[in-house]
Amino acid sequence: METQNTPKEKVVLAYSGGLDTSVCITWLQDKYNLDVIAVVGEVGQDHEGLELVKQRALSTGAIACHVVDMREAFAEEYLSSALAANAMYENKYPLVSALSRPLICKHLVQIAHQYGAKYIAHGCTGKGNDQVRFESSITMLDPTLQIIAPVRDWDLKSREEEMEWAAAHGITVPTTNASPYSIDDNLWGRAIECGVLEDPWAEPPADIYTMTVDPMQAPDVPTYVDIQFEAGLPVGLNSKPMSYLDIVYAMNDIAGSNGYGRIDMIENRLVGVKSRECYEAPGALALIMAHKALEDLCLERSVLHYKLGIEQSWAECVYNGLWFSPLKDAFDAFLASTQQCVTGTVKLKLYKGSCTVVGRKSDFSLYTYELATYAADDQFDHQAAKGFIDLHALPCKVWAENRLAMGVRMDSFATVDATNQHLGEGLVEEAEEIVAQAQSQLV
Ligand code: ARG
Repeated sequence: METQNTPKEKVVLAYSGGLDTSVCITWLQDKYNLDVIAVVGEVGQDHEGLELVKQRALSTGAIACHVVDMREAFAEEYLSSALAANAMYENKYPLVSALSRPLICKHLVQIAHQYGAKYIAHGCTGKGNDQVRFESSITMLDPTLQIIAPVRDWDLKSREEEMEWAAAHGITVPTTNASPYSIDDNLWGRAIECGVLEDPWAEPPADIYTMTVDPMQAPDVPTYVDIQFEAGLPVGLNSKPMSYLDIVYAMNDIAGSNGYGRIDMIENRLVGVKSRECYEAPGALALIMAHKALEDLCLERSVLHYKLGIEQSWAECVYNGLWFSPLKDAFDAFLASTQQCVTGTVKLKLYKGSCTVVGRKSDFSLYTYELATYAADDQFDHQAAKGFIDLHALPCKVWAENRLAMGVRMDSFATVDATNQHLGEGLVEEAEEIVAQAQSQLV
């Protein structure tokens, strides 16, 4: 029989301070009779002050609230692999939200262990990717933990209903910053969804952006920036040594103030929905561009080419919430091996919404002037090209010869025939005339 003194079970909640997760606190207490321990991750998001967020968690009824500054680890452990992978989901989206979730989960699990909590809760909806990332990550870190997803389970259908429920339960949430958009942001960028953006034809309103200026309002002179890399990681800007974290902050400023880094795309979510997504990721996009430019210089061709496929798989894996999977681990081992010689400097030029690589140099550069030049000091063996081409084309030549012998003409021959037919006899006559004329001049 339960006595008054039996301690309640505990749940660790990923808390942001917004309406959803505030309502979660009360809902978890009401519905499951759980003690709630809130965890707020500082990952470089824009916020009203995390002390305020903590106070809100406590005044809403959480028995504890931990604010954890995760920025250093986010840069050093997460954004570093993302850069090694030049990670862009569907070649466009630098995985902003997808990268922060596993790190937040690591802390949720750690704190759950500290408190002996059996449950972890998050405030994600039932149709996004984030629920998948939270739950997959938590399960991989500790498969014995149970996960509760209040927002997915409760029957509050709209924001208005949720506000009513909150008011009826004495939850105070500031409505002043109520935006029509759903926003998730961190060091690596900012995701903006919902509202008018749900119409893929509607141009994003100017007010959705906060990290980037309108390119038309950007300075009329370009900004140049040199980025120093060591073994694949940025270590300095304009020859001034800096931590990767500081470089990400600085590049967000530099690229953002030049109007670079906006993305407007239709994205395929893991749960099968196509959604219209707007992002701004000035620092991420500029750093990935610079990093790729240095790899172009330093990676041997077949490594570079093979890596492209791994990059895409890595991005998909992380997008799909499999950060802690053995496959992603194996990809990381490959990527780490490729980064050893990615050391050097890249010069970027930022101007009114554009970012261009205008220079690159490295002690590990595989660019060889004597091989590349068309000038007199060319040392490339032109004669070797002949034999190379003979052997390179040999298998296909044998195949073409067989086709010819069998009378089975390939499509490209048929195209040539059709073109000749289309041009008509006139052209053939004209050609015959030119040949006859050339021959008569020879005589
Ligand atoms: N579609 C992006 C992703 O799946 C961004 C999600 C951002 N979340 C949000 N609550 N707005 O990574």
